[in-house]
Amino acid sequence: MKLKDKIILITGGNAGIGAEMARQLSKQGAKIIISGRNEETLRGVADEYGVDYIRCDVTKEADQYNLLKEVKTRYGKLDVLINNAGIMKKYAFAEDEITLSNIRNEIEINTISPLTLTYLFLPLLKKSSEPAVVFVSSGLAYVPFPATPIYSGTKALMHHCAQSLRHQFKGDNIKVFELLPPPTDTALADNFRTPSVKLMPVDKMVAEFVQGLKCNKYEIAAGMSKQMRIISRIAPNFLFKQLANTFK
Ligand SMILES: NC(=O)c1ccc[n+]([C@@H]2O[C@H](COP(=O)([O-])OP(=O)(O)OC[C@H]3O[C@@H](n4cnc5c(N)ncnc54)[C@H](OP(=O)(O)O)[C@@H]3O)[C@@H](O)[C@H]2O)c1
Repeated sequence: MKLKDKIILITGGNAGIGAEMARQLSKQGAKIIISGRNEETLRGVADEYGVDYIRCDVTKEADQYNLLKEVKTRYGKLDVLINNAGIMKKYAFAEDEITLSNIRNEIEINTISPLTLTYLFLPLLKKSSEPAVVFVSSGLAYVPFPATPIYSGTKALMHHCAQSLRHQFKGDNIKVFELLPPPTDTALADNFRTPSVKLMPVDKMVAEFVQGLKCNKYEIAAGMSKQMRIISRIAPNFLFKQLANTFK
C-alpha cells in the first residue's frame, strides 16, 4: 500500500515499537497521530518527530469515543489504524498474588481494546480510498511462552481475529495486516531480558514492518518470528520446550 499522505493513527505511539513506527512512517510522508496515556511522553515524541497526538487510555470507553471524535473533527477520515498498545505480565500462577483486575487489564488492553477500537473506527476508515487496520500481536501467537500465560493467549487470540477480519473486510476493501514482532529491544522486553536472549533492535524490526506494509504482506512475521512460524508447524513441542527451558 502507498504510505505517502496517509493519515495513520498509532495506539501506544509514545514509546517502544509505536514511537519508532511514528518516526519511520512519517519519513514515508504519512500524517501520523500517536496516542497513549502519558501526556508528557506523547508530547515528547510528537515534538521530536513532528507528529500529532491525542491522549487515550484504550481500556476506557470514554477515551475511545473521544479519540474517534478528535480524529473525525481534525482529519475527517482515517486511512490506517495501528493497534499497537499492549502490555506483558509474567505470572507464576501457583506462587504469585494475582488479582482479577490484573488478569482483566492485560486481556482488555491486548484484545478487547484493539477490537472495539477497530469496530468504532470502521465508518471513518470507510471514507479512505485505501483503508487498513494493523494488529500488533507477537511471535508468541505461534507458540506460547509459559512464563506469560495470559499475554501469550491474548496474542494467539489476536492472530485468529486478524485472519478472520481480513476475510470479512475483503468486501469493504479494508486491508488487515498483522505484525508479529520477535523479542524486540523496548521496555516491554525487560520481562525476559537476559544475556542469552537476542533482542532485535527496534528500528530494524519496524523497518521490516514498513516494508511489509508497502508490499501488502498481510502477515508480517519480523526477524526471528519467521523461524517461530516454521518451527511451530513442523516441531511445535520442540519450540515450546525451548521457550520453557530458556525462561524457567
Ligand atoms: N518488545 C517486544 O519484545 C515485543 C514482542 C512482540 C510483540 N510486542 C508487542 O508490540 C506492542 C508494543 O510493545 P512495545 O515493546 O513497544 O512496548 P512498550 O515499549 O512497553 O510500549 C507500550 C506502549 O503501549 C502503551 N499503552 C500501554 N497501556 C495502554 C493503555 N491502557 N492505553 C493506551 N496505551 C497504552 C504505552 O503508553 P502509555 O504507558 O503512555 O499508555 C506505550 O506507548 C505490544 O502490543 C506488544 O505486545 C512487543
